[in-house]
Amino acid sequence: MKTYLVTGGAGFIGSNFIHYMLNKYNDVRIINVDKLTYAGNLENLSSIKENKNYQFIHADICDKRCMDKIFKENNIDYLVNFAAESHVDRSIQNPEIFIETNVKGTVNLLNIAKENWETGENTYKENHKFLQVSTDEVYGSLDDTGYFTENTPLCPHSPYSASKAGADMIVKAYFDTFKLPINITRCSNNYGPYQFPEKLIPLIINNILKHRQIPVYGDGMNIRDWLYVEDHCKAIDSVIKNGKLGEVYNVGGHNERTNIDIVRTIINYIKENVDDTVNENLIKYVADRKGHDRRYGIDPQKIQSELAWHPETPFEVGIIKTIKWYLDNKNWMENVTSGKYQEYYNKMYGDKTCTRSQ
Ligand code: NAD
Ligand code: DAU
Repeated sequence: MKTYLVTGGAGFIGSNFIHYMLNKYNDVRIINVDKLTYAGNLENLSSIKENKNYQFIHADICDKRCMDKIFKENNIDYLVNFAAESHVDRSIQNPEIFIETNVKGTVNLLNIAKENWETGENTYKENHKFLQVSTDEVYGSLDDTGYFTENTPLCPHSPYSASKAGADMIVKAYFDTFKLPINITRCSNNYGPYQFPEKLIPLIINNILKHRQIPVYGDGMNIRDWLYVEDHCKAIDSVIKNGKLGEVYNVGGHNERTNIDIVRTIINYIKENVDDTVNENLIKYVADRKGHDRRYGIDPQKIQSELAWHPETPFEVGIIKTIKWYLDNKNWMENVTSGKYQEYYNKMYGDKTCTRSQ
């Protein structure tokens, strides 16, 4: 039985990871530590809350005493650090909390893992690992050609990506200095169930269903490299088990799309299958994001050749699964968009994305 300490497991990717692991293995125990910020939602995990191999602890990764207690009371084999402030637009409005959680929280976890796993100077118990879940955004932005490899220099542009890059460098420093057993994964944009509708794909779906206009930043031609969230979970599982200590692994599946293409794909699916009154008049071009990265594109060659990981869900399949999930879980969407979401939405988009007259 291996014990995983998963931080941020009530968020989008963390909750998908917990479901994936508990479905796949009978011999894993998962302790999920989450602060339950606006992005953390225990409803994502309601179907497994009675599972004897799962435990939730409401805590902040910055809390030294609490995180140390969790380590001391449990025989933690692997720490998978998803916990983060994750939204670029919020980092432009309020950068400090990104430094608190993403940088200082990660340093706190590194110290506690080091203290609890160390058996002597620079030696550790067998088979422990600290997996830092990072992002392709740390590399900055690409022009029309080329891809991010693990050797691409870090060049983050937003406070969010700068905080993730800072955390990555400290994680690597704990390997170089203390030999703490670490890996870093840098994945491209994820999509799938349980994603908070501040992010592009669930925001589009929610707005279409409410007949609200869809805010497209700038000219809509920025490119993201989309990966179905379960493929990311599989990659993390594989890096924990077989990743070479101290190494970074990029995760992505060569699925680059412009934002406007994503918007049109979703509008067309809903128009053809759900509501034929929906059309492209919902698209509203709005002011661009400050410092908006133009293009992301992952070179996944290293994880493919060293760990035999390949994405299994083509975009055409994954996007339909995703749209259907949100259509089948309208209560989930209602719950997460009640309360403070509306306040956030109005502050972000004002009346630029008003409801279409019926
Ligand atoms: P999310 O915002 O949906 O979830 C973040 C979770 O962390 C929430 O449950 C939140 O409550 C929790 N959290 C925040 N601060 C905390 C703290 N101080 N202590 C404990 N818990 C805290 O984010 P996500 O999209 O699931 O991303 C998870 C991780 O994956 C992040 O580290 C992000 O940088 C990285 N990542 C995301 C993507 C993507 O496309 N979403 C792609 C690559 C990497
Ligand atoms: O690349 C990985 C990153 O992907 C993760 O590290 C981040 O945590 C995650 O939030 C995501 O960042 P992006 O900024 O790429 O995702 P977002 O969904 O916010 O935006 C995707 C693209 O869509 C981006 O070019 C901005 C644009 N956009 C976004 C929103 C919310 C719009 O045009 N309109 C919108 O309303």
